[in-house]
Amino acid sequence: MSAPNKLIAGNWKMNGLQASLAEVAGIAKGAQELPSSVKLAVCPPFTLIDRVAQALDGTSVGLGGQDCHTAQSGAHTGETSAEMLKDLGAEYVIVGHSERRTDHGESNEVVAAKAEAAIRAGLTPIICVGETLAERESEQTLDVVNTQLAGSVPQSLENKGFVVAYEPVWAIGTGLTPTTDQVKEVHQAMRKHLEERFGEQGASTHLLYGGSVKPGNAAELMAVANVDGALVGGASLKAVDFLGIAQASA
Ligand code: PGA
Repeated sequence: MSAPNKLIAGNWKMNGLQASLAEVAGIAKGAQELPSSVKLAVCPPFTLIDRVAQALDGTSVGLGGQDCHTAQSGAHTGETSAEMLKDLGAEYVIVGHSERRTDHGESNEVVAAKAEAAIRAGLTPIICVGETLAERESEQTLDVVNTQLAGSVPQSLENKGFVVAYEPVWAIGTGLTPTTDQVKEVHQAMRKHLEERFGEQGASTHLLYGGSVKPGNAAELMAVANVDGALVGGASLKAVDFLGIAQASA
C-alpha cells in the first residue's frame, strides 16, 4: 500500500441526489491541483455509488461506501456487501460510524466483523471510534476509545491495510471541535494502542480526525501529531469546502 501523508475522506451520509454529481466532478478537478501527499476519497450514499464511480474513474480520488454487511451475499434485504462495493470500484468502506452504532445498535463485535468483511473483499476499512459528551465529561475518553479499538479492530487485520477515524460523538455535525490538545491526547493513545498490537504497521496506520472539520479549522487540526487526515461529513458535500479542507491539510 503506497500511503499518502494525509487522507481526506468525505462521508456524505444520507445526502446527495443525482444533481450532486456536479460536486463530484468539481472535487475530481480540484484534486488535480493538490500535492500528491494528499489523497481524497468520497463516500456517497449507496444510490450514487455507481455514478460516482464513473465520475471518479481515472482520477486520483478514491471511492468508499459508508457501511457494509458482514456476509458476502445472501438473504439480507436492504443490505450491501463489501464485495458489491468492490465490484463498483470502491477502495474504502466506513465501518462503525457512531451513527450506525447508535441508530442500528452496532456493537464492537459487529464492527470488527464488518472490518473483516471489508478486508475479505479487498477494501480498506475506515474504522470509527469516539466518545460521547457524557463520557468525555466523566473523563472516560481514553478508556472508551481504547475499548472500542480493542473490540472493533480485530487482530486479523495484521498486515492488512486499515484506517482508524477518531470522531468524538459530540463533535459530529455540531460545529464543536475538541481542542488540539484533546485531539493530540487521543491520537497519541490510539497510536500507542495500535503500535502495541500491530508493531510497525500500527506506527504507520492512518489515524483520521472527524467531527465538524471545516476549511477554517482544518489546518490546525491536521497539524496535530498523529493526525493523518480527516473524515469530513457536512463540509464534504460542497466541492469548494472539501477542497478547502484538503488544501489546508497539505
Ligand atoms: P461532520 O461529520 O463533519 O458533519 O461533523 C463527520 C462524520 O460524521 O464523519
